[in-house]
Amino acid sequence: MQPVTGLSVKGQIVPQRASLPGLMSRLACREPVANTAGAQPVYNSAMPTAPTPDSTVSRSAAPRFPMPSVGPNRTGGVVWHARALQASARWQPTRDAINRWLAGISFDSRQLILVGASAGWMMSTDFLARFDAIEAIDIDPLAAPLFAWRHGLRLKRRGVQVRWHRMDALAELDELVDRWPEAGWLFDNVLGQQIYRHHDLDAVEAALAGLAQRLAGREWASVHDWLSGPARPPAPQAVLDLPPERAVVEPGGLVLKGQSQRFEIAGESLLATLNAHGQWQDHRTAGVFPAGTEVALIPWEFRPGKWHWLQAGHVFQCGQTARTRFEARAARGNPAKALKILDELDRSERTARS
Ligand SMILES: C[S@@+](CC[C@H](N)C(=O)[O-])C[C@H]1O[C@@H](n2cnc3c(N)ncnc32)[C@H](O)[C@@H]1O
Repeated sequence: MQPVTGLSVKGQIVPQRASLPGLMSRLACREPVANTAGAQPVYNSAMPTAPTPDSTVSRSAAPRFPMPSVGPNRTGGVVWHARALQASARWQPTRDAINRWLAGISFDSRQLILVGASAGWMMSTDFLARFDAIEAIDIDPLAAPLFAWRHGLRLKRRGVQVRWHRMDALAELDELVDRWPEAGWLFDNVLGQQIYRHHDLDAVEAALAGLAQRLAGREWASVHDWLSGPARPPAPQAVLDLPPERAVVEPGGLVLKGQSQRFEIAGESLLATLNAHGQWQDHRTAGVFPAGTEVALIPWEFRPGKWHWLQAGHVFQCGQTARTRFEARAARGNPAKALKILDELDRSERTARS
């Protein structure tokens, strides 16, 4: 493996402990993943080192997102739109990979909450047209008109209603979860961007790791940045042509290429496939998906010489069985009740196994 400067990896590959199907059935999907990625973050020079100095975060709580402390919007707006227009051809393979992944997801609900919708630059109209109604959320005032320009007419022809909400969906997550109890959620390249809105990155990481708990009983998916930084793969097209790596989240890491690996080790191997160099940035999203979630790892040539690894996952089978999924859905509108049901089922499944 090519050594990558700026990466500090102390962990060892953990011997394989279980097959993928074994893990899938064993791990409860709502369990938050321990944030070991925070222990060995990978930063570029623009980012503070971890842990964030003066962080007041207690990791034992399931914290909410802090109020944004960085302005103006560095995660979207004019710069994002201009870049997306200009990079359209270069981004196409990643857009295709995301859309193939989305095509494989069968959302139960016909109502989609699309968080970080922007103009839907990376999104296919075909995917959006699977829903009767879309609640599109973004803080960017340009998002609604540009989304209408890109997708509006075709969605209207296909009978899809799009309603816009200009707001911070993460700051108001609990209210929104209550407002739309039957909806499916897609966080569309937004969770990995939160490090650009806050100074306290530990608080961001903790809130991201607590997201699954706050969405308990809901069906949700996210595609987001995991790592980004400089790389010069000798054959970029070959990297982009490969089918996305599939992995399964487990506490503290991933089962990748059939082996349990801590997040740092898995990240290192992904960087090696890109011939990465220099300092890479950890977007603090390693803990977003609960253990047991199957994820696709998708490369993205953001700019020439600057790459991202995206993580895409779909959280739907809380408790892993049709019965628990049904019960969790029945408890919608009451996450505390859903969690209690799932706890009971976990206990009985553990007893049955032993
Ligand atoms: C990287 S862009 C991705 C946009 C979009 N998914 C696309 O494919 O074009 C991230 C978007 O999320 C929005 N955003 C960031 N944080 C947000 C939040 N907390 N609530 C709502 N929107 C947010 C930004 O304004 C921006 O439009």
